[in-house]
Amino acid sequence: MYHFKIASFLIVVSIVLAACQPLSPVTTAVPVTTQVSASNSAATSMPAPKVIDFPCSPNCKYSDLVIGFIQTGSEGGWRAANTASYKESAQQLGVKLKFFDSQNDLKKQIAGFVQFIQDPEVNIIVLAALETSGWEAVLQQARDAGKIVVLEDRRIDAPENLYATYIGSDFNLEGRKAADEMCKLLEGSEKKNVWELVGNVGSSAAIDRGKGFREKMGDCGINIVNTQTADWSATEGLQVTEAWLKENKDVQGIFAQNDEMAFGAIEALKNAGLTPAVDVKIISVDATAGAFQAMLEGTLNVAVECNPLLAPQVYEAALKAANGVGQPSWVPSQESVFHADDPNLLDISKGRAY
Ligand code: AHR
Repeated sequence: MYHFKIASFLIVVSIVLAACQPLSPVTTAVPVTTQVSASNSAATSMPAPKVIDFPCSPNCKYSDLVIGFIQTGSEGGWRAANTASYKESAQQLGVKLKFFDSQNDLKKQIAGFVQFIQDPEVNIIVLAALETSGWEAVLQQARDAGKIVVLEDRRIDAPENLYATYIGSDFNLEGRKAADEMCKLLEGSEKKNVWELVGNVGSSAAIDRGKGFREKMGDCGINIVNTQTADWSATEGLQVTEAWLKENKDVQGIFAQNDEMAFGAIEALKNAGLTPAVDVKIISVDATAGAFQAMLEGTLNVAVECNPLLAPQVYEAALKAANGVGQPSWVPSQESVFHADDPNLLDISKGRAY
């Protein structure tokens, strides 16, 4: 009996000691409030984000940060403004920035991520993910190597405790706004056949914008009769729209998931003898300078804004994470919608930064 009691006691002690062992070199941050949206609600049951224990914490300064930024590529005006935001803000704040161009190739992007994990100078990795899936293993490696990860622009499907925060747009909301605007433009139209030009399949921007549009399009009886990727590119937007126009011209609206693809569609419509924004209503997402020019010229009806100037917020979030400050899992951008028939459009366009 005596031996049995001793044995039970030792088992209990060893269980308690095992439970107290740290699992990784990561310290738990102060409790954070987790903000969850409809589009990433699957993450609600995930553990709260954690913060890596930085040597300079809790007094890290911007000059202590060496940021490895993994950009998607250079697919258009939005991306150029996003990249410029990182380079300019880094100079202003005194952050050291190392830039990796993934050239819109997922394999290259993952290699870039691993390169920054292995770079002893880099302490923060900022990722604009080309696709939502496949990130968990490298995120875990980054955490094991003591690197903080901040997501910018694109959300991913991975446990929230593997990154400090995500700063970017509500793409689902952008899609819903686009559908609402298309409903207004097609009000009274007998038919509501819409063609959708999709971004790179697998990206959160393409998935969530498409989903959001579908959530609202039923409100006014829109039918998506053609949908295909044009990979965010004007050239592909032109080619895809041209191919569709050869099949038939029974289309009343085009929803382009970004400005570049809308520019391609506009060219294709002109080449086919149709008047863009009149015969076929066109809505795009981004609201870059090119979209404002198209609206002022009368070839684009509506631009749903997607804000690329994310770097100041991302750098601030990285600094907070370095100092052990917990943050929401997602900080959505505040964005507007711009209309070609707005009498103030020219003035608005003059005040825009991209
Ligand atoms: O993730 C944002 C999207 O990516 C933009 O809408 C598109 O232009 C870009 O390249």
